[in-house]
Amino acid sequence: MEKTTVFHLLRFFIFQQLCAAISATCYFPPEFQGEYKMQSTNSGDGVQYSVLNITGNSIPIWGNCHRRIGNNFILMINSGSNSCIRCLHLKLRSKNILQVNAASQESISKKCYTREESAEANCPTELSVQKRTTTEIILFKTKDLEGSNIQREFCPLYNNYNLRYFTTDKFYRRECIGFESDLDTCPSGSTLNIHFRQCLFDNYDLKFDCLGEWEGPNGQMHIALLDNRHFKKQLPQYRCGLYKRNESTGSIYLSLGKDSTCNTDLHNATYGHEVFELVPKEETSWPREIAFGQCNFPEWLIGNWEHARVDEKTFIYLDHNSFKTYTIKCVEKNNSDDKYLVFTRTQCGEEQYNCLKIKKRSTNIIEFQLGTNFSKNKDVFDLCSETNFQDNNWITQGRLNRKLEASCPISGEYTGVIPDNTEFCAKLWSDCRAPELMYYQVSDCVTSEVVEEREYRCLGHWTEGELLYTYTQRKDVASEAFECFVGSIISEKEDIYIKEAGEHCQRLIDPLQYGMKLIKQGLYSCIGSIPNTHYDVTTKRLSTIQPNSASTKSWNIGAQYPAIPDNYDNTIGGAASILSVKYLVSFIIFVNVIVYF
Ligand SMILES: *[C@@H]1O[C@H](CO)[C@@H](O)[C@H](O)[C@H]1NC(C)=O
Ligand SMILES: *[C@@H]1O[C@H](CO)[C@@H](O)[C@H](O)[C@H]1NC(C)=O
Ligand SMILES: *[C@@H]1O[C@H](CO)[C@@H](O)[C@H](O)[C@H]1NC(C)=O
Ligand SMILES: *[C@@H]1O[C@H](CO)[C@@H](O)[C@H](O)[C@H]1NC(C)=O
Ligand SMILES: *[C@@H]1O[C@H](CO)[C@@H](O)[C@H](O)[C@H]1NC(C)=O
Repeated sequence: MEKTTVFHLLRFFIFQQLCAAISATCYFPPEFQGEYKMQSTNSGDGVQYSVLNITGNSIPIWGNCHRRIGNNFILMINSGSNSCIRCLHLKLRSKNILQVNAASQESISKKCYTREESAEANCPTELSVQKRTTTEIILFKTKDLEGSNIQREFCPLYNNYNLRYFTTDKFYRRECIGFESDLDTCPSGSTLNIHFRQCLFDNYDLKFDCLGEWEGPNGQMHIALLDNRHFKKQLPQYRCGLYKRNESTGSIYLSLGKDSTCNTDLHNATYGHEVFELVPKEETSWPREIAFGQCNFPEWLIGNWEHARVDEKTFIYLDHNSFKTYTIKCVEKNNSDDKYLVFTRTQCGEEQYNCLKIKKRSTNIIEFQLGTNFSKNKDVFDLCSETNFQDNNWITQGRLNRKLEASCPISGEYTGVIPDNTEFCAKLWSDCRAPELMYYQVSDCVTSEVVEEREYRCLGHWTEGELLYTYTQRKDVASEAFECFVGSIISEKEDIYIKEAGEHCQRLIDPLQYGMKLIKQGLYSCIGSIPNTHYDVTTKRLSTIQPNSASTKSWNIGAQYPAIPDNYDNTIGGAASILSVKYLVSFIIFVNVIVYF
């Protein structure tokens, strides 16, 4: 009797699994969702666009999200007994640029499979996407998931340049001889203003709005632009280009393709449909005390940061709120170790003396602020007084060229319920093999259907009073997105409260009151909780040195857990991306840990 009950139960379970498999669904990350423009035709009448929406679980023209395999999505259109199934590779290249790849042109437009296995067998591989042997479509986001217009983006070209210009299309011959034309980004760092002068055509001014950038082949960068000339003529509205900076001279080659794809007449940064050669303009001279000054920024500040580049004497900050580029020169170090009297100049030539207050939060994190009061002349004594700064107004920056990774402040697995939407359950966990990573997942509490998955790299953390600030970088989508978390530190309890604190570690947020309560699960729960998704970093703004994983002990909230052994074999990590070896990997880790203890 008992046996049959078990059997029935088992059969019921299998039946449920089957049902789940048939109605399976997946979700697009919120960052993918919104309204896009896509080039539809490029005929004699110029480039035409069509509008495409991405919702939580569907791209209406291509199908419903059926299953996600890394960056590949199996999409399905059900029409009665016939299904149309295709596999598309989606990669968010920057906040507003989504790249879609399919095995062939046909498999996007016409051909689809009736069997899921066939569609899956035709998923583009990571390698084919890299080698660009797939069919590529660039989607330009116009509205985010809430329907708001997209935010402006900072242009990667932020100096003032003289330029030379030519086209390579024999049906569209244009040229500016010599370097009489120029480019600036005043008043807004989100727009390139080009002034064509002394050309083989009449002088005119041109504006490009920057939409994003991502890594291209051979050390070149891709750039997406909105071409404001399209209002007057048949020129395409969206442009894709390649640029390359000569690091020793600062000159840049920029070339643009013919239409809104990244492969029509776009060969490399020096050869495309339109080509610009940019040479930095000579800087206007700096005041005497700077030109001949001895003031240096500290060693730990030097390097490439999220929105800043610092060397001994110069701190360049791209302010993503005001779209101003500040070139900040050290004038005099104040007695207190974290303040510097500085001279700042924006890309529009506005100059002032101010005081720069900088805090080192950890090896890979700094915070700084400029004084609220500034002055036209140097002889103002109170610029560096504490009253010129606000306690809670920091700009947080993470280091890009990291030599050492920090570990995340959690170890093991924590679960909780989303505070303002209790139908959804959250899980936050760390990875035994890579203490610098943590994973976050939101799922339906009843069906366990995963709605959102995130992967974070922890850059470091620090405490202020009763609060712990953790600065992270998203790894799963458009990387370079930095996010701060504020958490409680409750030493004897194992529960934590955490809250997102924006990009700049916003203060005055009480996680105990507004945060999410997460409860620690089990003692060594991190064993076996190997992430089942392992996405590649999709973009990199600046090429960075591959940092070493820190062999430091993981810093735990709550009770002390053993740290990961220093001689821990990290090589297993690479294999974990393959789903099928998941259990094997956890088994190996399990054995490893057992041996260690
Ligand atoms: C996309 O979504 C917007 C807002 O929901 C809607 O107004 C628009 O008609 C949709 N466009 C297409 C092509 O589905
Ligand atoms: C940078 O420019 C200098 C001077 O024109 C040239 O000698 C050098 O080869 C360039 N470097 C690269 C990487 O193109
Ligand atoms: C750029 O592409 C053109 C045309 O394909 C080629 O002749 C040239 O050698 C390329 N330049 C570089 C630097 O790769
Ligand atoms: C440091 O700042 C204080 C307050 O503004 C000022 O009184 C003092 O002279 C400054 N010291 C140096 C060395 O600039
Ligand atoms: C800023 O400058 C104004 C005028 O010089 C002065 O009245 C005010 O007290 C200053 N504020 C701070 C915070 O130093």
